[in-house]
Amino acid sequence: MSAIYIHIPFCKTRCTYCDFHSGTNFSLKKEYIEALKKEISLRKNYLKNQCIKTIYFGGGTPSLLEFEDLKSIFEALNQNFDLKNCEEITLECNPDDLSEHYIQQLKNLPINRLSIGIQSFNNNELKFINRRHSAKQAEEAVKCCQQNGFSNISIDLIFGLPFQTPESFEYNLDKALELNIQHISVYGLTFENGTKIELQRQRKLFNEIDEETSILMYQTAIKKLTYNGFEHYEISNFAKPGRRSKHNSSYWNGTHYLGLGSGAHSFNGTSRQWNVCNTKHYISLCNYFEIEHLSQEDIYNELVITNLRKKEGISLDLISKKFGDNIYNHCKKTAQYFLENQLLEEKNNHLKLTQKGILLSDSIIQDLMI
Ligand SMILES: C[S@@+](CC[C@H](N)C(=O)[O-])C[C@H]1O[C@@H](n2cnc3c(N)ncnc32)[C@H](O)[C@@H]1O
Ligand code: SF4
Repeated sequence: MSAIYIHIPFCKTRCTYCDFHSGTNFSLKKEYIEALKKEISLRKNYLKNQCIKTIYFGGGTPSLLEFEDLKSIFEALNQNFDLKNCEEITLECNPDDLSEHYIQQLKNLPINRLSIGIQSFNNNELKFINRRHSAKQAEEAVKCCQQNGFSNISIDLIFGLPFQTPESFEYNLDKALELNIQHISVYGLTFENGTKIELQRQRKLFNEIDEETSILMYQTAIKKLTYNGFEHYEISNFAKPGRRSKHNSSYWNGTHYLGLGSGAHSFNGTSRQWNVCNTKHYISLCNYFEIEHLSQEDIYNELVITNLRKKEGISLDLISKKFGDNIYNHCKKTAQYFLENQLLEEKNNHLKLTQKGILLSDSIIQDLMI
């Protein structure tokens, strides 16, 4: 079983915090979809005829694609891949694209999961980060998707936004809970180089939220969401029982995946490859990518990065079987300090982050890597 990721690099406007590969020049959309369909057929053998278990349309803004665009992409996928056992097909959506007419059209496609970027239910916060929708629009979009039969919905929220307070973030969590959705991703705001918000931060146009407040917000999310029946199954992800993202879980489990579209990554167990990260070049070159063959150390590092983020942690058995004594000993030795300081725990022969360790996950992961 494997996975397909499809990148849609278009946005109507850019949000101030975002450095995902995407642009606002729509004139390339038709040509891009043609290139995508061409790439689908050129790379049909990459996954060696394995059944596709999940498909994820990410962006950019995949909900900018019209019904006919999506339909033709599905036709191309069906012609080239075995989708009959596909369990989860997700479309990333922006609330302002989700008119009732569009939602009904989506229902006529095989899409069975929507991931809606809401970020906040506070209009001042939304305005500051240049979102295209209001809080009310976001709420209505979710309800409209539910009324039209979508029963697997995820939303994204961001904490640590300028001017956000622990109270206003808690309000965002309460609003999310009221909506009765199945999955919530909660991301701490990061200041990426080259983004407008990073420039504003450097110019001191707002007071950056201090680390203590940011930790408090994250801990509030964990407490509130788990209390309300969500499983905290990955550092940033919470799901109702049985509603984990199958697609993202497959990245974390080492499943092979094919990434289609500009900037998309693919992984086949031994190498990773990247499509050219420029929409115009992608359209003209289509099947041009860079490739990196992965050493045992690279594969071990990937496993640490992805598995330590998960609730289940890293299987020590797997490390020993897959990588042998040297790497296993490295892992045990570097973990020792964190085990002694209750930042990691060892249970059922798995290494897992503790509640305290989750707050320092980046540096722990860094230390365990080779
Ligand atoms: C591909 S992006 C956006 C999907 C969709 N276009 C939207 O805006 O709703 C996926 C998610 O990453 C998160 N994200 C992007 N940049 C971020 C940043 N700098 N800090 C924290 N979260 C970020 C946002 O929550 C966003 O919804
Ligand atoms: S957050 Fe979404 S809509 Fe905003 S710029 Fe990034 S990809 Fe585009």
